[in-house]
Amino acid sequence: MSHFSVPLEPAKCDTCAIVSQLDLSLVGVNISVMDWNIFVSRRIPQAGLDLLRKSLTRVDVFDEDAPMDHARLIEEARDRNGLLIMGSDQIDAAVLGVSPRLRVVSNLSVGYNNIDVAEATRRKIIVTNTPGVLTDATADLTWALILAVARRVGEGERFARSGQWKGWAVTQLLGTDVTGKTLGIVGAGRIGTAVAKRACGFSMKIIYTARSDKPAMVALGAKRVSFDEVLSQSDFVCVHVPLTPETRHLFGEREFRKMKPTAYFINVARGPVHDEVALVRALQEGWITGAGLDVFENEPQIAPGLLTLPNVVVLPHLGTATVETRSRMAVLAVENLLSVLRGEQCENVVNPEALSR
Ligand code: DGY
Repeated sequence: MSHFSVPLEPAKCDTCAIVSQLDLSLVGVNISVMDWNIFVSRRIPQAGLDLLRKSLTRVDVFDEDAPMDHARLIEEARDRNGLLIMGSDQIDAAVLGVSPRLRVVSNLSVGYNNIDVAEATRRKIIVTNTPGVLTDATADLTWALILAVARRVGEGERFARSGQWKGWAVTQLLGTDVTGKTLGIVGAGRIGTAVAKRACGFSMKIIYTARSDKPAMVALGAKRVSFDEVLSQSDFVCVHVPLTPETRHLFGEREFRKMKPTAYFINVARGPVHDEVALVRALQEGWITGAGLDVFENEPQIAPGLLTLPNVVVLPHLGTATVETRSRMAVLAVENLLSVLRGEQCENVVNPEALSR
């Protein structure tokens, strides 16, 4: 494991101007740009690092492409004003409490279930995330999974590589049509809507569940129905809800049994939204036909039952994994962090109550 400090750069005039605009009442302490002490918990795309280099006095980056040990993270958080962390870092009371100077935790992720937001708010620590910039990449990967499970891409690829293919056959590896089928969206936010938009190109009937009509979905011709109707009517059920206490195990035995035996379950949101034991049974016993999964209950572990099933396509949490998207996420995470430290307006604060406390 290596570790490096970004060299200190003398504050430039434009930086000085920004510092003089600091609203100190918002950050709550007498902080100047030269005092900022930032820790980045992972190697991030260069565009994000460049922005940090230009703007800050001291930045330490854990220069690895693997998660940091939690005990080490607590140590590294000591005396920091800001942390830039990943969705796989657990930011609990121990991390949040180690530096009285900590003002911002910037998550390089749209989901923030990895952060104890209530504890952060109690400590007046601002938490930010990276919505918007990852919508299309995540919707595209959802579609990669829909097509992969429907057309048995994983099985076909393994078969072609195996050397056992003897030539084209009428009944070989038959999948199911996607065109004209019913797509059910659970979680009609930005990503769910982007998935629905792509479904129009496949002439699909789109249904979704939400507390009230979503204009962007209505504009696509999608129909709002109950959660149980999504389950019972969809050929493809796609999950796009954040992980919260209410959505943990939203999909369990009852829900999988309500789905059509010909249906597919797609989860590109968060693993604990489904009960993996129930999902394995649903697939083994034919309650549903297949699943496309980018997320798992206990990442990076994948329930062994899933790995031996041919009717499942598994990916290692690649939803946002494109060069362009990860670069945009890194830049946005840095911008969020800097805006909070400077006392500027930041659109991506998930706990605005922390500002007013
Ligand atoms: C997200 O942004 O929530 C992705 O899952 C990456 O963590």
